[in-house]
Amino acid sequence: MMKRTSLLVALLLMPALAQAWPWSKDMANQISIKPQESPDPAHPGMYPFPSRSVPVPGTTVLVEDLDAAKKMSNPVVPDEQSVQKGKHLFEIYCTPCHGFKGYGDGLVGKKLIMQPFNLSYTNTMHSWKSPDYPDGYIFGYMTLGGAVMPSYANDLSPTERWNVVNYVRKVLQKAPPGYVAPQSN
Ligand code: HEC
Repeated sequence: MMKRTSLLVALLLMPALAQAWPWSKDMANQISIKPQESPDPAHPGMYPFPSRSVPVPGTTVLVEDLDAAKKMSNPVVPDEQSVQKGKHLFEIYCTPCHGFKGYGDGLVGKKLIMQPFNLSYTNTMHSWKSPDYPDGYIFGYMTLGGAVMPSYANDLSPTERWNVVNYVRKVLQKAPPGYVAPQSN
């Protein structure tokens, strides 16, 4: 009896059951108005930008879902500086699962129930050149996470995420000259 009660208490104290997870968002989830959120409950949604204004990279970006993310255009020019920053962040945050070359062969990834997908040019699941997989798709995946992959919206700012996208695009997905992609379907 004692054992069962203490098991129940232990279970109830688990952050997921106590609805406290993910606690890293606790301070952000308050009643304040978030960037790009309407202050008027009668008219929810984002206020349109004033005409001829340009969204500045570095502001918080709220992404509804992967489809919405796919429509976003990459605001960060993929110059050498951005690619280098992206490389640094990729090596910290993504290599444990996706591996240094993006093949999906990271040491942590191998232990998961679902293997991390191949982010490099050798991907045979789909072509990274396809319009179905634009920069916004990779950005969206980092922002939202997947079935197994965690979200990186708390760890990486939008600009940092675009830097990672630029690194994945310019370095990991750049096929060496003469590379012939295997037939993908
Ligand atoms: C804990 C392991 C893990 C980490 C760390 C991780 N991923 Fe993933 N990733 C996965 C798994 C597993 C999938 C397979 C799909 C899923 O989980 O929904 C995936 C899928 C993806 C996809 C979809 C690829 C496709 O072909 O559709 C993208 C893009 C991606 N990850 C990018 C990243 C980036 C960029 C980082 C670093 C910021 C990262 N991932 C960090 C595990 C991880």
